[in-house]
Amino acid sequence: MPTVPTTPSAAADPVITTLADRPELASRIWDMRDSWPAFSGEDALAWLLYPRIVAEFPEYVWIATDGDAVVARGFALPFALHTEERGGTLPANGWDAVLMWAFSDRRRGVLPDTVSAIEISVATDRQGRGLSGRMLAAMRESVRAAGFAELVAPVRPNGKPAEPDAPMEEYAYRTRGDGLPHDPWLRVHVRAGGVIDSVAPVSMTVSGSLAQWREWTGLPFDAAGPVRVPGALVPVHCEPERGYAVYVEPNVWVRHRLR
Ligand SMILES: CC(C)(COP(=O)(O)OP(=O)(O)OC[C@H]1O[C@@H](n2cnc3c(N)ncnc32)[C@H](O)[C@@H]1OP(=O)(O)O)[C@@H](O)C(=O)NCCC(=O)NCCS
Repeated sequence: MPTVPTTPSAAADPVITTLADRPELASRIWDMRDSWPAFSGEDALAWLLYPRIVAEFPEYVWIATDGDAVVARGFALPFALHTEERGGTLPANGWDAVLMWAFSDRRRGVLPDTVSAIEISVATDRQGRGLSGRMLAAMRESVRAAGFAELVAPVRPNGKPAEPDAPMEEYAYRTRGDGLPHDPWLRVHVRAGGVIDSVAPVSMTVSGSLAQWREWTGLPFDAAGPVRVPGALVPVHCEPERGYAVYVEPNVWVRHRLR
């Protein structure tokens, strides 16, 4: 897929390219300090398939560099959405479904008709400067230039951890006085031209033993019921009598029409 060169608006702006264009950055994309909670990398599909994205889909990996420093990264995956079986409907198991479908389609030689964003992360010391919007614009432009009509995204609203008990169905559609989404990251998507489609109620699932959850969060995980965990969009459900806890993360499907 072609990288569409981005024109820095100022001399100090980071440069955004794909990993296909700069393969030497493959080992460096994880060096960046990000703000993901520790448990989020424990989704079994993510654990298994993220390294494969880098190896098998380098044209769908975007990296922003500032001099030698990696300051943002983005991942997307192509898959077939408009098949008889999938029917063009964005799935309830959003993020996990994209990972499964993209790798399964490639293995079976099924031609993709849609691309889904999987992640955009900005280095902690570079957040709040509009870099996420530039990463999204670069992703949109590359996907459009590759001939796709639509980029979709199971968005993880970054303001939701402050309101873990709010139903996502309400939070996702909450707007400010100017009509834009209340949530900052959803706002970036809508400003870029995205339209909120639906809530993906089981987008990502992380299950673990009580010992694992204690290690990931530093919390006791000794009482039954919902546990509020920093960085989680909804409470984690703890079952001490059965020895496990499980987190089911809802995301918000956004559709970006590209032509
Ligand atoms: C979500 C994320 C990508 C946003 O990146 P960013 O470059 O810092 O965002 P921007 O500077 O473009 O700001 C976007 C909006 O968020 C707001 N914002 C930025 N940092 C914020 C913060 N810490 N708290 C609340 N709002 C914030 C900005 O004011 C802006 O709002 P505006 O629409 O009113 O202008 C970044 O915070 C991040 O990497 N988070 C961790 C990974 C993640 O959750 N990624 C998204 C799921 S894949």
